[in-house]
Amino acid sequence: MSETISLRIGENNLELPVITGTENEKAIDISKLRDQTGYITLDPGFKNTGAAKSAITFLDGEKGILRYRGYAIEELASKSTFVEVAYLLIYGELPTGNELETFRMTVRRHTLIHEDMKKFFDGFPSKSHPMGLLSALVGALSAFYPESLNAHATEEEEDLTVIQLLAKMPTIVSWIYKKSLGHPLIYPSNDLDYVTNFLNMIFGQRTEQTEIDPVMVSAMNTLLILHADHEQNCSTSTVRIVGSSQANLFASISAGISALWGPLHGGANQAVIEMLEKIKNDGGDCDKWIAKAKDKNDPFRLMGFGHRVYKNFDPRAKIIKKACDEVLEKLGINDPVLEIAKKLENAALNDPYFIERKLYPNVDFYSGIIYRALGFPTDMFTVLFALGRLPGWIAQWREMRTNKEPIGRPRQVYVGAPERNYVDLAKR
Ligand code: CMC
Repeated sequence: MSETISLRIGENNLELPVITGTENEKAIDISKLRDQTGYITLDPGFKNTGAAKSAITFLDGEKGILRYRGYAIEELASKSTFVEVAYLLIYGELPTGNELETFRMTVRRHTLIHEDMKKFFDGFPSKSHPMGLLSALVGALSAFYPESLNAHATEEEEDLTVIQLLAKMPTIVSWIYKKSLGHPLIYPSNDLDYVTNFLNMIFGQRTEQTEIDPVMVSAMNTLLILHADHEQNCSTSTVRIVGSSQANLFASISAGISALWGPLHGGANQAVIEMLEKIKNDGGDCDKWIAKAKDKNDPFRLMGFGHRVYKNFDPRAKIIKKACDEVLEKLGINDPVLEIAKKLENAALNDPYFIERKLYPNVDFYSGIIYRALGFPTDMFTVLFALGRLPGWIAQWREMRTNKEPIGRPRQVYVGAPERNYVDLAKR
């Protein structure tokens, strides 16, 4: 007998089916609730609402576990590459040697973007925030690759759009950066691997041959892997819900990029460095800033701290903290904000306010210090998060389509004015 939960409404008893996940996670299936009782559920912020059955990423916030397709994030971060993880997330299994090589070669053949798209880069003010540009340019890809508009594309056609996006995103990101500097664009080099090619387009110069330091490539691979998916977060839910209207992949991911931009989500990595700089310039008194974060009359929050799901530790933050020490040492960089970050973390972890609320450093707390050490300016950090999250968004969009999920359309409880008569302008 399958498990059910009884719900009593007035005199009526309703048996609601229970869905059990691979890791014994339990959910009450309320899909027939309104039909059978007239009631809906209310859950602002979806704190208790499962929006999908998904086979992509498992995370246990209490135990600090994160797995992509069953593989622990710690193992993937130390043994895999970003491209292999992208394959794993999108297609569900680790590739064989041949599959990986074919995937790499196919992605490499699509790295160029339509030459006419370059005019867009010229149109934006050079000080534009890169996230606004990224969202606009990814959306604009649909204009240049209109085959993506077919909502009933074959698997092969859909796959081509996926490959195009994976391949063109590093080119778009690096061109946004080059334009902000007023530097000439560097074209992709298809003889380089995905991450080296990206760093070459970012840091390379037309005037001289640039050698990309393998330490930077390895650090970038790790960071991209750590960001590659995180189940139904704000931007991923956005991608799935936009895609559920049968909007094309470029439009869906463009919307996800906008959702990621906010400082409570991916934008936190930029906000963390800005906060650490402010604390440093203010004399480095961490206790003062901890007190501000605890003060309910002060809007300041400790950026890079707290998480909707992780209530023990964020496994990505652990890996990033270690990587941060290693990268700075290998690159011979002494960044004073790293000391402030460690002091702040230590003070917060020993403070009852943070302990009681289970607030720990999240993925964004140390990532910015590494990006900075690699040479990226602060406003590029969230764009790098987006580059890393791309395979996850794609995998989630594909899964939503494969599962033939219905259009996402939450309900509401209306609390506005009851019906009233229109009042003529002269009488108001
Ligand atoms: N500093 C101070 N207080 C905090 C913080 C913080 N960073 N985070 C949560 N709290 C308090 C909050 O005020 C509330 O206190 P009380 O119970 O007294 O009202 C309690 O902790 C619970 O917070 P919440 O806002 O209800 O929790 P949430 O699950 O809705 O929000 C969060 C999660 C990540 C938005 C929040 O912790 C936050 O704003 N953190 C700072 C921004 C940040 O680092 N975001 C990156 C998240 S991880 C990467 C990603 O998603 O992209």
